[in-house]
Amino acid sequence: MTGNTDVSPDVDALSEAQAADELARLAAEIARHDRAYHGDDAPLITDAAYDALRRRNDEIEALYPALVRDDSPAMKVGTEAISAFAKIIHATPMLSLGNAFSRNDVEEFLARIRRFLMLDDKVPMKVSAEPKIDGLSISLRYEGGRLVQAATRGDGTIGENVTHNIETLADDQIPKKLPYLSCPDTIEVRGEVFMTKADFAALNARQEASDHKLFANPRNAAAGSLRQLDPAVTRSRPLAFFAYGWGEVSEQLAETHSGALARFAAWGFPTNPRTVLCTGTDEIMACYARLEADRARLAYDIDGVVYKVDRLDWQRRLGFVSRAPRWAIAHKFAAEKATTVVNNIIVQVGRTGALTPVAELEPVNVGGVMVSRATLHNGDEIERLGLGIGDTVRIQRAGDVIPQVIEVTGKPGDSVFRIDPVCPVCGSGAVREEGEVVLRCTGGLVCAAQAVERLKHFVSQGGLDIEGFGARNVEQFYDLGWLRGPGDVFRLCARRDALASLDGWGELSAGNLLKAIEQRRTATLDRLICGLGIRHIGQTTARLLAHHYGSFAAWRQAMTHVGTIGSEERQDLVSLDSIGDAVANALCAFFAERHNRDVLADLATEMTVADVDMPFATGSPVAGKTVVFTGTLETMSRGEAKARAESIGARVSGSVSARTDLVVAGPGAGSKARKARDLGVETLDEQQWMELIGDA
Ligand code: IVH
Repeated sequence: MTGNTDVSPDVDALSEAQAADELARLAAEIARHDRAYHGDDAPLITDAAYDALRRRNDEIEALYPALVRDDSPAMKVGTEAISAFAKIIHATPMLSLGNAFSRNDVEEFLARIRRFLMLDDKVPMKVSAEPKIDGLSISLRYEGGRLVQAATRGDGTIGENVTHNIETLADDQIPKKLPYLSCPDTIEVRGEVFMTKADFAALNARQEASDHKLFANPRNAAAGSLRQLDPAVTRSRPLAFFAYGWGEVSEQLAETHSGALARFAAWGFPTNPRTVLCTGTDEIMACYARLEADRARLAYDIDGVVYKVDRLDWQRRLGFVSRAPRWAIAHKFAAEKATTVVNNIIVQVGRTGALTPVAELEPVNVGGVMVSRATLHNGDEIERLGLGIGDTVRIQRAGDVIPQVIEVTGKPGDSVFRIDPVCPVCGSGAVREEGEVVLRCTGGLVCAAQAVERLKHFVSQGGLDIEGFGARNVEQFYDLGWLRGPGDVFRLCARRDALASLDGWGELSAGNLLKAIEQRRTATLDRLICGLGIRHIGQTTARLLAHHYGSFAAWRQAMTHVGTIGSEERQDLVSLDSIGDAVANALCAFFAERHNRDVLADLATEMTVADVDMPFATGSPVAGKTVVFTGTLETMSRGEAKARAESIGARVSGSVSARTDLVVAGPGAGSKARKARDLGVETLDEQQWMELIGDA
């Protein structure tokens, strides 16, 4: 044990961005000590040092209330830690929802479903429209009619065991026993735990009177109340619940979603009384308008309306795309707005060199969150707004997106801000590529801003997700010359002493960071691809590529040839569904640069990249096989066929090559079926395919 605390910069000297980083670091660090203390009974620091960390966290939170994190250490009582909750792997993952923002998006959602299911316009399709409660989702597992486990969503795959706390909720919110004879033997009921606005206000009044921390909003209050180590605290907090879905079930609940909700209600679960069945866009939009109009009068916070296809057989066929169901969508309410003054306009350089103008604002409260910056996107947008420094503007904030300026409402001068076509960091010229609206720094490798942003991305959640490695750390190590490329991240481990002696660091924090880095020396291929920050390649595409190529070596090998038009590798890449020219060109451009190939070679020596496990590799006759669908399919749409094949581990490709394992040819199949014959690739008709995969 050491008495070492970090010598950190004065709280008052922190910028907002630094404060955010620091709060993230403190949350992680305090959580780590909590784990050591409670989980392993082996404290790493003295109580005084631990208290100093917490005090620092409280001070920063007091200065920047808008930055208080959902996992703020201050929300945990005393020295009791959230991390003391055991982890639970969800029997079926808890998914998230795609978003709709307009009537158009809703129409698109409905049209997509009809195309997928091959439903013509005359077939009515009912949709359940439900208020989207702004709370936290929970999964309640009942076996033999008894509540046996309650888990938070966590990352969707692994949640936290909060059974003892959930047990303290009133029976009319969460029944502990279900009518045994009328419910499945095993069922996970899912829904939202929340706090009403009135209960939130009363709780905060009590907190204030007793000199305790105030909660930022009802959702934080609900989360903070549920994640208490002492269930007695949870019991004293007025938590409520609405059931809206389910996870594992041992028998089918109903034919429809609404039928399932009715059964939940019959078993004693609260279900939202504002839920209605709608048919068609007009009815859906009318329901949305009613809820938006009543929003302020509702007893609890809602942030939109969720639409779900009512028929469960359709839901099953529709399935999921990367962690969100095809059969549901969240229609968000319009953004919250406020008026303020633009104090300055700065230009930031992103990791792809894009110059983004950002308005520095007179801080203003927008729907409960303090906002001091807004993105201006690009020069065209500034021109469209006619915006200059000193202007009064209307800004808006929708959900968790970056605040935006929507209009100029007051203009003391007549100047409009112009972006200099020069990189503010490296001084290289900035150009606007054809068909693009943004200026991009041409500095490439010499531009420090791009390098730093790429590194930030590499270590961030969207990349390798190295715990506690914040944006500020990247900047600091870059300035010291310790970091230039991604491989240097792993070489930091040789700088332990130098790191520990840096201002604001110490043995403890250096050790923690290096440990977190070591943990990521082994990473999955999709994380690595995503972390490289190649243009147009986000998580979904990275996953697709990782899944398709299977290993780091295979991917690198193939990518060195994608630049050659007509090459087998290029064909193979663009034949992947949802890989278009933009992605293919971005990959070519990335691999065309020697520097990038060197980075990958360097990473290959520093880290171990795990091969991708094919899902359902056992028991599926097509796991890991490359399948091409061609011609007209009769029992389902191409989209459904592809989704089904992928769900049992196949790779679906758009063109036939020597790598194709199987072609499924419907009537009218032409050149692809011929090519398959020429190459000797096995070809099945739709019926044979269904038999092969057991769907006949
Ligand atoms: S359905 C696969 N229904 O919204 C279906 N979610 O953005 C997943 N939420 O994590 C959820 N009200 O916490 C559903 N009526 C409702 C909801 C709802 C609130 C939350 C839930 C979920 C998040 C997804």
